[in-house]
Amino acid sequence: MIGIFDSGSGGLSVLREIIKILPREKYIYFADNAFCPYGEKTPEFIQQRGRVVTDYLLSEGADIIVVACNTATAAAISTLRSEYDVKFIGMEPAVKPAALSSETGVIGVLATAGTLKGSKYLNTKGLYEDNVRIEERVGQGFVELVERGVLEGPEAERTVRDSLQPLLDSGADRIVLGCTHYPFLKDVIQKLSGPSVQVIDPAPAVARHLLDVMETEGLVREDGGPELPDVRLVASGDPGPSRALYQMIIKNR
Ligand code: DGL
Repeated sequence: MIGIFDSGSGGLSVLREIIKILPREKYIYFADNAFCPYGEKTPEFIQQRGRVVTDYLLSEGADIIVVACNTATAAAISTLRSEYDVKFIGMEPAVKPAALSSETGVIGVLATAGTLKGSKYLNTKGLYEDNVRIEERVGQGFVELVERGVLEGPEAERTVRDSLQPLLDSGADRIVLGCTHYPFLKDVIQKLSGPSVQVIDPAPAVARHLLDVMETEGLVREDGGPELPDVRLVASGDPGPSRALYQMIIKNR
């Protein structure tokens, strides 16, 4: 069983990609939305939530855990790896593909404050900043929009524009989505950015990495499994937002 968690519904953008390539596995998705957003919380707080959620997922039978949250990956994945005897797959902002493909030499990164301050991101950034200029912005209010299911329309466009426009004004032709909630606003981000800007979601790469690790660990189901993905959704708060987004994912599959 694959355990997946996020501060809320954002990690469903990762689950969406995972079930495309591993449709017959069993999943438990935990939305820690009683404590959402994680973006401004301390690393210690997020580590503690990571332990609580990990204990729960393991008690439900998870064999591997996807930390489908950039902020939790930045704050807690190394602590969790040192404390638990289970594999954790984390998120990585897609700075590399953006930096290698940019034509203007400027890339924009949208993420939470916690991710942008984390050593993982700062190290990755250090590898590429000699070659490209990297501009960053917190997607102010994006997480709240997604949790409320507002994925398009004037309010979503207004909110997205406030954080996105400075990146576009700086000449960025690649926008990296460094928070798993943001892919649910990808259509709005793409519309406001125009066709010459590529918006990059790291979730497909994370899904492929999970598949590789599961193959190496011998965790891929051999017996076929059910026809539809077997996904159980659990939340520390109201399960409504995750259920609604999950229905949308399944419908648009
Ligand atoms: N979805 C999260 C991330 O990838 C966390 C957003 C939040 O709770 O602030 O960073």
